[in-house]
Amino acid sequence: MTARIIDGKLVAERLRAGLAARIATLPFRPGLRVVRVGDDPASGIYVRNKDRAAAAAGFDSATLHLPATTTEAELLAVIARLNADPAVDGILVQLPLPPQIRAEAAIDAVDPAKDVDGFHPLNAGRLASGQPGLMPCTPKGVMHLLREAGASLRGARALVLGRSQIVGRPMAQLLLGADCTVTIAHSRTRDLAAECRRAEIFVAAVGRPEMVRGDWVAEGAIVIDVGINRTAAGKLVGDVAFAEAAARAAAITPVPGGVGPMTIACLLENTLEAALARRQ
Ligand code: GUN
Repeated sequence: MTARIIDGKLVAERLRAGLAARIATLPFRPGLRVVRVGDDPASGIYVRNKDRAAAAAGFDSATLHLPATTTEAELLAVIARLNADPAVDGILVQLPLPPQIRAEAAIDAVDPAKDVDGFHPLNAGRLASGQPGLMPCTPKGVMHLLREAGASLRGARALVLGRSQIVGRPMAQLLLGADCTVTIAHSRTRDLAAECRRAEIFVAAVGRPEMVRGDWVAEGAIVIDVGINRTAAGKLVGDVAFAEAAARAAAITPVPGGVGPMTIACLLENTLEAALARRQ
């Protein structure tokens, strides 16, 4: 089997165009504020891309760039001001934060109604208990791609490789909500390759370059690669050895151009949802 390539760039463009069309009909512009603390270079690129995509879709978007020496109390004061600002619908505190600031303190401080990352414990709890709420952007983007790939999810054996708070765990919840039979596999899983080979839906989110080999993938599986890793040679690769896996899978996402573009599109989708919920 040679896999169909799932074009995340195209799906994300369509999603953003749909959001722009909806925003054009609104009497207000949904407001997004990204808070960046310090000068992590990767964060600089993410934040610039977010700002560009948000502005192009008609959002009122801005980044607040605070110095690397910002204290936790100062960051919490900025978040409190954004929570209280009626023009702000979505707040995203870019991670990682400098060592003097606890990420949990920042995440817990964001008003859950404006938590467009879906990281606040209230939103994580809503997701785990099957209630509506703001959902983490990357797993939400993966669900869009699975639907786009025509995956039949009900009753399917799905495996999530990775158990992070940001991707693995919420991903498993979303797949469970779509009636998959879900396994979460991780670094301590016994006989990992055999476990992976049972999956009809395979989501890799471990952050280890090309860890998933072709013989870990079942014939006909749908493979979603969340990993974005830079090799010593400077090449971007996923968590999945793409050519090997594509020889067996029915459909697979590339890196780059798969899940990555969906994360920003879903951030904008969450911001519009938060705005409509807050202002209705
Ligand atoms: N840093 C890398 N990815 C993310 C993300 O999805 N949200 C936030 N807040 N920070 C990140």
